[in-house]
Amino acid sequence: MATIEAAPIAPRARPADWLGRAATFCYLAIAAGQLLFVLFILLYYYPSTLTGNFARWNDKPLIIGFVEGDTSGNLFFAVHVLMAAVITFGGLVQLVPAIRSRWPALHRWNGRLYLVSALTLALGGLWMTWGRGTWLTITGGAGITLDALLILGFAAMAWRSARARRFVEHRRWAIRLFAVASAVWFMRVGYMVWGLATGGAGIGKAMDGPFDIFLAFANSLLPLAVAELYLRAGAHGTPRARGGVAALLTVSGVAILAGSAGAWMVMWGPYI
Ligand code: HEM
Repeated sequence: MATIEAAPIAPRARPADWLGRAATFCYLAIAAGQLLFVLFILLYYYPSTLTGNFARWNDKPLIIGFVEGDTSGNLFFAVHVLMAAVITFGGLVQLVPAIRSRWPALHRWNGRLYLVSALTLALGGLWMTWGRGTWLTITGGAGITLDALLILGFAAMAWRSARARRFVEHRRWAIRLFAVASAVWFMRVGYMVWGLATGGAGIGKAMDGPFDIFLAFANSLLPLAVAELYLRAGAHGTPRARGGVAALLTVSGVAILAGSAGAWMVMWGPYI
């Protein structure tokens, strides 16, 4: 005779994981946009830099770029653009969960390379900004300096927590590091999204308008804030909070796709 105890218990319906799906969509949008950036760096900067034809950098508008006779400045620029492709591609690889679980050695070595390129870009970038004087406005210089300091701080935290095998904490610092290490790319995408949406309102002729000032800091602080909301919603968010962050990630992903397409058409594609 069937008893109450033996009656099959219907599995409780799990709420759809919208947060996870939205995060995957947002990651794929970022990956599409960053791969376009990597493609531009590989096709524009790699051939000229690796063949020593540094003068070719200046075919594209830059603040300083190549300067005849400035050996150290040119070398810093060369290392910077070579490492730019390494960090951008490496960051995308590092965030794929299947790679982390199936090939942990690849994750560890790519992680070390990522940290070295983060340090090189942040310290070299600081020298190019203040040592070589590559800045258009003091606000722009301050914004990218803040980004460099965040990269250095978060890289240290991601490295320390990995060494101590505190992997939950490591994942959090690594996601924050990815957000701020992608700031220069977010800035280019941000200009394009804003340009498409408003026709360029608040962008000054000398990059000194209200939108330029906002984006100088928002390029690192905005992705960092979104990453923080995602981490908090994922760890202990109510269903409402998780739904809200899922919506935010979806909208961000759509904006990133539009901005990346614009950046390719205006900033990268025409130069290769
Ligand atoms: C960490 C990720 C970074 C990436 C992927 C990256 C990428 C690049 C690329 C591709 C360029 C060549 C300019 C272009 O074609 O748009 C460049 C130039 C430059 N970057 Fe970075 N960068 C990063 C971080 C930084 C940081 C943290 C600073 C400053 C603290 C910085 C300062 C500079 C400067 C001063 C230039 C020269 C700009 C010019 O002469 O016009 N970069 N960077």
